[in-house]
Amino acid sequence: MTDVLPVTFTAGTTGLWRIERITTVTGDGLPAAARLLVEEEAPVAGPRVPPTVATSAPGWVLCGTVSNQRYTTAAELALLNARSPALGRPGATVASLIPITKSQAWWEMAQDERRGILEETSHHIRRSMDYLPAVARRLHHCRDLGGPFDFLTWFEFAPENAAAFDDLLGELRNTEEWTFIEREVEVRVERASV
Ligand code: HEM
Repeated sequence: MTDVLPVTFTAGTTGLWRIERITTVTGDGLPAAARLLVEEEAPVAGPRVPPTVATSAPGWVLCGTVSNQRYTTAAELALLNARSPALGRPGATVASLIPITKSQAWWEMAQDERRGILEETSHHIRRSMDYLPAVARRLHHCRDLGGPFDFLTWFEFAPENAAAFDDLLGELRNTEEWTFIEREVEVRVERASV
C-alpha cells in the first residue's frame, strides 16, 4: 500500500498563518478564526482510523492526506515535476486553503469520464501549469476519511502573485469541472511574524 502523508489544518488561536479572510464560494462556509495551524504527521501506510473532523469552538479542524495522482498523465507529471516549487519558500508569505466537495454526480462517473471533464474539457492541468512556479501547491484527499470535504487544496505564493492566483481561481470557477463542485470555501492566510 502506498504511504500517505496525513496533514491537519486547525483554525483557532495558534499557528504560523494569520487568517486574513474566509470566503464562502459555494455551499456552507466555515466559522471565523484568528490563526491556522498546519501540522504534518509522519507518513503511515494506510488504512488508518479516520481522524476527528469535528467543529470545535473556536475554529475548526480539517484533515486530509497527500496521496497518489488520479488523473495526471506521465507527460503532465514530468512537466509538473519540472516546474513545481517546494512549499515553504521564504518569499511565499501568502497562502490559500481551499476545501472543496464535489457532487454525487461527479463521483458516480467512471475514471475516464472524470479525467475527460477535468482536463480534456476544463483544461485544469494545462491552464494551471502557467501559474508555476509562482504558486506552490499540495492536494490533500479526504473523501474517504468521512469528513465534510473531498479535498483540501493548499497554495503558497508571494504577495505580488496574489492577483494572478485570483485570476486562476476565476478561470477554474468558469469551467465545466466546477459545475460539479457543491461546496467551496477559501481561507486566505498570511504568514504571521510572531
Ligand atoms: C497552481 C496551479 C495548479 C496546478 C498546477 C494544479 C494541478 C492539478 C493537478 C495536476 C491535479 C490532478 C491530480 C491528480 O492526478 O489526481 C489537480 C487536481 C485538483 N486541483 Fe488543481 N492545480 C492548480 C490549481 C488549483 C486551484 C487554484 C484549485 C482550487 C481552487 C485546484 C483544485 C484542485 C482539486 C479539487 C483537484 C482534485 C480534483 C479531483 O480529483 O477531482 N487546483 N490539480
